[in-house]
Order: sequence, then structure tokens, then C-alpha cells
Amino acid sequence: MSRDPFDWIDAHAERRREAGLVRTLRPRQAESTLLDLAGNDYLGLARHPQVTGAGADACLLWGAGSTGSRLVTGTTELHTELEAELAEFCGFEAALVFASGYAANLAAVTALTGPGTLIVSDTSNHASLIDGCRLSRADTEVVAHRDTEAVRKALDAHDGPAVVVSDSVFSVDGDAAPLTGLAAACRQHGAALLVDDAHGLGVLGEGGRGAAWAAGLAGAPDVVVTATLSKSLGSQGGVVLGPARVIEHLVNAARTFIFDTGLAPAAAGAALGALRLLRAEPERAERARAVALQLYDRLTAAGLRSARPDACVVAVRAPSAGEALQWAADCRTAGLAVGCFRPPSVPDGISRLRLTARGDLTDQQIAEAVEVIVRTAPRDSARSGELAGA
Ligand SMILES: Cc1ncc(COP(=O)(O)O)c(C=O)c1O
Repeated sequence: MSRDPFDWIDAHAERRREAGLVRTLRPRQAESTLLDLAGNDYLGLARHPQVTGAGADACLLWGAGSTGSRLVTGTTELHTELEAELAEFCGFEAALVFASGYAANLAAVTALTGPGTLIVSDTSNHASLIDGCRLSRADTEVVAHRDTEAVRKALDAHDGPAVVVSDSVFSVDGDAAPLTGLAAACRQHGAALLVDDAHGLGVLGEGGRGAAWAAGLAGAPDVVVTATLSKSLGSQGGVVLGPARVIEHLVNAARTFIFDTGLAPAAAGAALGALRLLRAEPERAERARAVALQLYDRLTAAGLRSARPDACVVAVRAPSAGEALQWAADCRTAGLAVGCFRPPSVPDGISRLRLTARGDLTDQQIAEAVEVIVRTAPRDSARSGELAGA
């Protein structure tokens, strides 16, 4: 009798059920009364008429799809315009746009390293950086979270090319990387610094120019930044920013650039529309950061445990995975959408509610959100210990 090749999946599913870790898809409705603190639309631009209009116009002008990989037919004038404006805004010599931030990270890590290179990677880096390290065939040393000294030590012990990779703002707790210290350590050793600014672009730095700008590292010859166009810019896609020779190298060597269909024109157009809006209204970035701090201040004043946010991610600790899930469900019933992080997404095993501050929230909406989160909190959540940096 032949064996069913997928029987093992049932055993995995059973283990997930037993651990309360089953993930399910919950389709969003176009019109919803839910107050959204779960998405990553930090500046509230995903449905801004100037942004959706720019996306729709691009779709009508250039077509629904980009029709090919970037090196064949997938580069339109729109892509080139977007790259030039992103580079100029963030203060880098050049930029290259990808179909996603994930693809941008895979490209940057794999094309800038290889066998013989040492990659030094923060233990809390995003999955896409981790996968880039795995694909690169370089030696990867994972170091403690935000530990510049550990980075120095790893670089000290290596003789040869090296790249230090770090999120600028970490996805789970919203804390920032010590970019100035990392850059100093890199320079001492002639290593490159690769920063994933997915949560910093549009939020940190003057007018949202990003974490590298804020740290005085924008345009540095030894710094490369990646970002997504899907969070503060409210669209979809990814970008790598850096010295022109690095970008030219990626065009020639990065597999997720060469073998992937170019970003859809609607996404490129919407991202460009959002970028222009942000340039015209730079106060949006500051407002988003202020909303995050307000959420943090009010939730911690009510006794909940959270880490002080450095950008727009506000994490609130839950006593257990089950209680985090119930808490998020209760918030939803009360009209508030929040994220819920549980193992294995959080390697430290600590479950959290994950709130994303949005610059377009009114004071009334912030007050409502805090009221719901505090009212629905599990009984012992106030005693569930500190989050890193709290
Ligand atoms: C830190 C970080 N890097 C990269 C990505 C991937 O970006 P994208 O969703 O555009 O693929 C994300 C999340 O989506 C992220 O949070």
C-alpha cells in the first residue's frame, strides 16, 4: 500500500492545535468599523485619495502588471522615477526597487556576501534578513540583541570581508538598533553596515527620511539600507538604497532582482504618490511617533507592560499565548483590531499584543483604543514582567 506523502502534516497541525498556535486567515472587509491598530499603515496613506489615485493612474497608463523581470520588460519610466525620488529623499546615491521588502533583503544580503564573508546578525532581525543570511552561504554569527560590543568582538575575530546586518527598528518590540555604534564598529574593521529600515522609513529622521538619515549615516559609502514600500508608504514593494556601485552590482547579481517580475505599476505609482505626499506634509512622520508615545504612556500608566517605542510599533506583554489570543479577540469584539505575536514568531517565547501607531488617528480614537485594551486585559497582565527596554 502506498503511503500518503502528506500524512506528516496532520501531526504538525495537531501539535499546533495542542499548543494553541494555529494561525488562521481573516479576510478584511473593504468598509469596516474596526479601529485598525494591527496594520502597518503608519501614516494612514494606504487609502489616501492622492495615493490610491496615483496607483490607479499608473495601472491605467502602464498596465496591471509590469509584464516581465526588471532586466527584460519590467522596468517602466515610473520605476526609474520612483528609484530616483526614493534615493534623493533618503539621502543615498542610488536606489533599486523590488517586488517586496522581503525580496530586497534577500537581494542585499546575498549579493553583498558569499563564502568567506562574515555576516554579523542581530538575534532579533526580521525573517527576511535571516533567510538572506541562510541563502548567502556566508558564515553568519548571530549576536545578542542590540549588543554593539558583541558585534565588535565578532568582527575582531574575523580576517576578511564582513557585513553587519540589523533591523533599524525591530518588528516585535519596536526598539531601535544602536546604528551609530554599529557604524563605528564596522568602520574600525572595514566592514559594511546593512540596515533594514522597514519600520523607520516615513517615521524616523527629518520628515520621515529614515533611521540612517536620523543617525547621520545616509549616503555613507559603507552603508546600505533596505526598506519596504508597504508600511508608511501604504503601497507594496521594497527598495535597496546605497552607493551607485552597490546598486549596479545588485542589478547584475541579485537573484531576487534578476529572476522576479518587476513591481506592478500600480504599486510603484502609489508608492511614488505617498512619497510625494510625505514630502509635502513632513509633519505626518512626527505625528505618527507622537501617537506611539501616547499609546505607550497611557497603557503603561494603566499598569500594562510595554517597551518604550522608538518608532510606531508598540508591544504590550501578555501572560501567555492563549491569553494573548483571547485578549486580541476581545479587543476585536469591542471594535479594535490589534496584532498578536506568539511563538514561534517571537523567539523569546513571550506573547504580546502588537499595536501599530498611525499618524492619522485622532485623539478620540487613541483614547478609545486605550480604553478597550485596558478593559479587556487579562487579569495578571500587569504582573507579567518587563519587556526589553521597558
Ligand atoms: C523589518 C522588516 N523587514 C522586511 C519586511 C518585509 O517587507 P515586505 O512585506 O515588503 O516583503 C518586513 C515586513 O513586512 C519587516 O517588518
